[in-house]
Amino acid sequence: MRDSEPDSDRQPDSDVGSDTAADDERGTAVRRDRFSGGPARGFLSSLAADEALFVADLAVDRAHVVGLAEQGILEDAVAGSILRALADVEAAGHEALPAGEDVHEAIETAVIDRVGPDGGRMHTARSRNDEVATCIRYRLREDLLDAVAATLTLREALVDVADAHTKTVMPGYTHLQPAQPTTVAHYVLSYAGGIARDTTRLLDAYDRTNRSPLGGAAFAGTPFDVDRERTAELLGFDGLVFNAMDAVSTRDFLAEAATASATLATTLSGLAEDLIVFSNKGLVRLDDDYSSTSSIMPQKVNPDTLELTRGVAGDAIGAATGTLSLLKGLPRAYNRDLQRAHASVLETVDDVREATAVAAGAVATAEWRTDRLAAAAGAGFSTATGVADLLAAGGMPFRTAHEVVATAAETVDDDTSPSAAADVVAAATDAVADESLTTYASRAAVEAALDPAESVVSRDSTGGPAPDAVTEGLGVATDALTTDRDTLETRRDRLAAAAETLDREVASYV
Ligand code: ARG
Repeated sequence: MRDSEPDSDRQPDSDVGSDTAADDERGTAVRRDRFSGGPARGFLSSLAADEALFVADLAVDRAHVVGLAEQGILEDAVAGSILRALADVEAAGHEALPAGEDVHEAIETAVIDRVGPDGGRMHTARSRNDEVATCIRYRLREDLLDAVAATLTLREALVDVADAHTKTVMPGYTHLQPAQPTTVAHYVLSYAGGIARDTTRLLDAYDRTNRSPLGGAAFAGTPFDVDRERTAELLGFDGLVFNAMDAVSTRDFLAEAATASATLATTLSGLAEDLIVFSNKGLVRLDDDYSSTSSIMPQKVNPDTLELTRGVAGDAIGAATGTLSLLKGLPRAYNRDLQRAHASVLETVDDVREATAVAAGAVATAEWRTDRLAAAAGAGFSTATGVADLLAAGGMPFRTAHEVVATAAETVDDDTSPSAAADVVAAATDAVADESLTTYASRAAVEAALDPAESVVSRDSTGGPAPDAVTEGLGVATDALTTDRDTLETRRDRLAAAAETLDREVASYV
């Protein structure tokens, strides 16, 4: 310790780390005098942000120590003292860590502080490079599974709404203009499909995240006879990132988690926008729990939760772009830029998980105003395509039918009765095709085609809105949910089983 710089290895902006001279001295156990001071110490340090890795680092330390002991690299008694010290460090918490460049160094210092020089054996056969990569993966995988769970809850909410509204007609839009009538079930299942793909992307990201870099050391392996498969198993990883240089260098799993989260957030932003528009049109009423009001205009019920959900997508896209920008062009093997890669991704996965949970709550509690939806379903002559389809089914070339109905659309408006509209279509058939409407369709059939509910029933192609097709769609959505629920449970069970094994192994030394 340099007497002239007693505080120099503490972070200026953080209250993490202690402020006694003795602690500063301990801080030098890993860094040594030459690298413990100087004006850039705070800039170099990630200790405050590393709180997210505190629990992960303790687990990684434990698995590493057990692994060293099992391989005979560390005496059991020394392993026991280190493992006891780690329990003590855990109980004291992240806030109590001594000053240090990062959580890995601070925990090691705290162990040496408790155990004495033998505590320094913990870092045998490893580097902070493989250590931090392992910690990030260990932490991120839990966050990814929590995000997966949130997507399942949202999909359940969407399926429940679909189940209750297979026959509730509503307007379907393109360009935000009334296009064709559909049903609430058909609409919400469109999002169940999208979110299901987001679930899968997160699970894929999980599977590539859940691989162990531990034992890669600085990048070049180690002469010690480590058993990388064993430490991977103790930490619940599904296997190794095999090549030691790849293992410590790559953060592609962070990019993948960020892009999977950003893609989910983008899906959510569309759903949120729709619900904002639908509540603006009075078609949906959001529950008070998912609304807010104005501090000045007391009558206001605003869809703030959905606006925030929409907003989260911007941040998530920023994190994905930022992560790839940070990683782009980094040379092998380790570069300190990497220290800046994980915090924003962990935060993004968490923000998107929260937005997903809020969207699930908003969907589950929203009231679909069936009368207004039915009234709006036929607005803007939205049944026009169905009438053209009917004429085409009767033998008229679709392009001619399109022109007939386009001509009718010049006259038909929201106040035109079905029978008056049928008259207009008949006149248009005369004018455009020089033929009688009845050559192609009965008047009753035309009037039925002009009815939004009948229009929906007629569109029974696979994936369409007709009740039978939607019932099939409900089955598809429910089956996919069951599969993904099982996958999530299997992943979580594996992690829980590994944590128990590690606890048991640790207990055998302490
Ligand atoms: N805190 C560092 C990080 O997050 C740990 C690795 C430091 N390694 C090194 N070679 N300086 O990347």
